[in-house]
Amino acid sequence: MKKILAIESSCDETAAAVVADGRSVLSNIISSQIARHKLFGGVVPEIASRKHIEKINQVVSAALDEAGMTLTQVDAVAVTKGPGLVGALLVGVSFAKALAFAAGKPLIGVNHIEGHIAANYISNPRLEPPFLCLVVSGGHTHLVRVADYGVYEVLGRTLDDAAGEAFDKVARAIGLGYPGGPKIEALAKLGNPKAIPFPRAKISGSALDFSFSGLKSAVLNYMNGAHMRKERIVEADLAASFQQAVIDVLVGNLMKAAAESDTKCIALAGGVTANQTLRTAVEQACVSAGYTFYCPEPLLCTDNAAMIGAAAYTSWQKGQLSDWSLNADPALQLGAI
Ligand code: KG4
Ligand code: ZN
Repeated sequence: MKKILAIESSCDETAAAVVADGRSVLSNIISSQIARHKLFGGVVPEIASRKHIEKINQVVSAALDEAGMTLTQVDAVAVTKGPGLVGALLVGVSFAKALAFAAGKPLIGVNHIEGHIAANYISNPRLEPPFLCLVVSGGHTHLVRVADYGVYEVLGRTLDDAAGEAFDKVARAIGLGYPGGPKIEALAKLGNPKAIPFPRAKISGSALDFSFSGLKSAVLNYMNGAHMRKERIVEADLAASFQQAVIDVLVGNLMKAAAESDTKCIALAGGVTANQTLRTAVEQACVSAGYTFYCPEPLLCTDNAAMIGAAAYTSWQKGQLSDWSLNADPALQLGAI
């Protein structure tokens, strides 16, 4: 059994995990900085880097302790190399390189988006490529055909804001604070998703691309209009109608891609897929169209290191190890080595 110590520090979570054979989680420690960034309404990169430095040693030790192991007992060290905030990534990359070098272990740099996709292998150990995956997080909205382990075809992507970014911006406009996704979801439960007819963006040219900035502007215009007319805004209806507009577009494109695809398996990945209304909508669409539905448990949808360990295992099996020149790459693309 190959045991990988994995480290994740691309944004505002300092995380470490030990994962065996890419699918079995022996420990999964996540130290969130949300409380700190909340004060500023979003992630402050400089604060994120400093907090990672303060926490990383403790988080890695806790992951080894919880797995009942010492560093000498792990077989490799993996780390998120990108995409993400460069200063935040550098903390994890430098720490992982130092650990691997000192302990004489192989080093595996991992793409964060690939990690989100690989979270599905943990929650559903029987899942194997090919499958379609909708990756929706704070920084990314991708519709991906996973042709094989580590082989990706991006079928659609956002042309402007990521879906999570839209959740966060609308939450800020309503005054719900950061991070917006879970707060919009909670408020939306009390509202009517059909109350306000927000637009569902259609992109000319590429049928599978997304755009969320028009929707975000429509929400802001609606709020400004209501303020000017001195009308009361029913915030729960606003949240529910906005959330439904995002979900309709995500599910619409996903099902369009599935109809054109050779696979009958659909998976979800990324922080936004912790949203229960989205999970249910995709599951129902899959059931009625006859597709098999996969989704990681909510804790593995948002940022964590177990998913990095899962993705690292497939890289290792393909012989894709990193050398000591490994560096953070804030704009790393899916599929790039
Ligand atoms: O994957 P993730 O943890 O970090 C990135 O790689 O970006 O995703 C964070 C994003 C944030 O935009 C957050 O608002 C959103 O995921 N999010 C949600 C929910 N939980 C987190 N969006 C909608 N509903 C949720 N329950
Ligand atoms: Zn992420």
